Amino acid sequence: MNYKKYTKQYHPVPMETRDWPSREITHAPKWCSVDLRDGNQALYSPMTIDEKLEFFSFLVSLGIKEIEVGFPAASGTEFEFVRRLIDENLIPDDVTIQVLTQAREHIIKRTIEALSGAKNAIVHIYNSTSTLQRKVVFRKDKDEIKQLAVDGAKLVVDLVEGSLDGNIRYEYSPESFTCTEPDYAVEVCNAVLDVFKPTKDRKAIINLPSTIEVATANVYADQIEYVHKRLKYRDAVEISVHAHNDRGTGVASTELALLAGADRVEGTLFGNGERTGNADIIMLALNMFCQGIDPELDITNIDEIIARFEKYNKIPISPRHPYAGEMAYVAFSGSHQDAIKKAMAAYEAAGCEIWENPYLTIDPTDIGRKYEPIVINSQSGKGGVSYVMEKKFGYTLPPVMVAEFSKHITELSDAKQTVLEPEEIYAAFKNDYINHTPISLTSYRSGVEDNITTVTADIMYNGKPVTIDGTGNGPLDALCNALSGMLGLKLNVASYTQHDLEGKASSKAVSYICVSVGEKKCWGVGIDTNISTSSIYALISAVNKAV
Ligand code: KIV
Ligand code: ZN
Repeated sequence: MNYKKYTKQYHPVPMETRDWPSREITHAPKWCSVDLRDGNQALYSPMTIDEKLEFFSFLVSLGIKEIEVGFPAASGTEFEFVRRLIDENLIPDDVTIQVLTQAREHIIKRTIEALSGAKNAIVHIYNSTSTLQRKVVFRKDKDEIKQLAVDGAKLVVDLVEGSLDGNIRYEYSPESFTCTEPDYAVEVCNAVLDVFKPTKDRKAIINLPSTIEVATANVYADQIEYVHKRLKYRDAVEISVHAHNDRGTGVASTELALLAGADRVEGTLFGNGERTGNADIIMLALNMFCQGIDPELDITNIDEIIARFEKYNKIPISPRHPYAGEMAYVAFSGSHQDAIKKAMAAYEAAGCEIWENPYLTIDPTDIGRKYEPIVINSQSGKGGVSYVMEKKFGYTLPPVMVAEFSKHITELSDAKQTVLEPEEIYAAFKNDYINHTPISLTSYRSGVEDNITTVTADIMYNGKPVTIDGTGNGPLDALCNALSGMLGLKLNVASYTQHDLEGKASSKAVSYICVSVGEKKCWGVGIDTNISTSSIYALISAVNKAV
């Protein structure tokens, strides 16, 4: 590969001290959804007005208070959408809409027109400041580019102050900030802030986008901290970050930027957006949530969020998406399944207060999911098999039996070369351990005299009715002796456990019996409403296996 075609252009910002590496995220930032603008402009087929209206109210229902609703000067649809939101009074009083405009006169004018009558709005103006864009796109020097930003900001302020009477705030983005010299970015932002004249009561927003993600997340953090420490009016300014995901680190970049002084995050649900997307708000929020931080968003029904996302954007989310992917709570590895199961049992035993799990960062039920290792493959081993048998079907198999049964399941999965569904596992279980041939029980009677139990059993043996008798120190022992006599084998009950079958309408008991014949050990299972009858059935199943 011709890697020499690429040069390393972006390095940590030379700073004597940097604070972000030793800081921690302690609270949620202000969230701003750009789904309806950056997300929408990145779709093969952008949303209709009706879809945008629905998506808008869905974003509101998630608790998002600032929503960039579009680029009103870009098209009739965009303009009309903003008008409908305002004219039809669809914006709750605690929600602020945001509109994007380039720093160009006619675009600014049209944008401000779109906001007429808005109660709460942010006018977001941007121009690119990067070295490359200055050189090849705008062919302007640093002063000219700064002037463009200042002129745009002045026009915005003049038009807003002259024609709008709502609570209107200002936002400026030095587009392609990550490819801009940090000191120059500070210079431009400060010049724009001199125009905005922000106050603590009417804060301005300086949005520092990684329009294209070009370096490791620590470099973005350095760039943010550099600006954060040099901005004028700092206590009247919110620093916003807007990370794209070209290197796959949009979320990491955003998190480090928060450590570096950012107050606000622009992003989209599941990271939809230009090229490889924007910072993913859901992932960011749940990353905070699982560290014990209130994300200040309602993500209690992740499947509904996915359904809405897919409906409006018409693109799917990855099955491996952290938290939301359909495989996020599926563990195939047997040791993982075992550890998850044990940690869940410990969590329940401790009263479900503090979540601690070696392989699941959150309790899936918090977002409307459940952990179901119902997919068993050849890597799953004992833990997975016993979990499925217990959680799905109510059978708590004795450990030695699990070891034997899971070997068989591994063979089946290997042969099938894919996962086994729970029903296939259950079918294998019945096939292996509930055996009615060659012996089946028709009826039995037992009595006790002088501490000796006698059993008489009517059975079918190889299709013929037979009556057998035996004595022992309990019905099981007596029947085992009767069967030993009939078969001419030395059968012993080596292990016997039983429990109620949970989750069944009619409460039944299940018994697990292991009989030994010489070196050979065979397990059998019996189920009945009567606990001792279930053990008799289990014995017969085990003996059938032995013979
Ligand atoms: O990615 C970007 O730089 C943008 C700006 C318009 C903020 O979307
Ligand atoms: Zn963007």
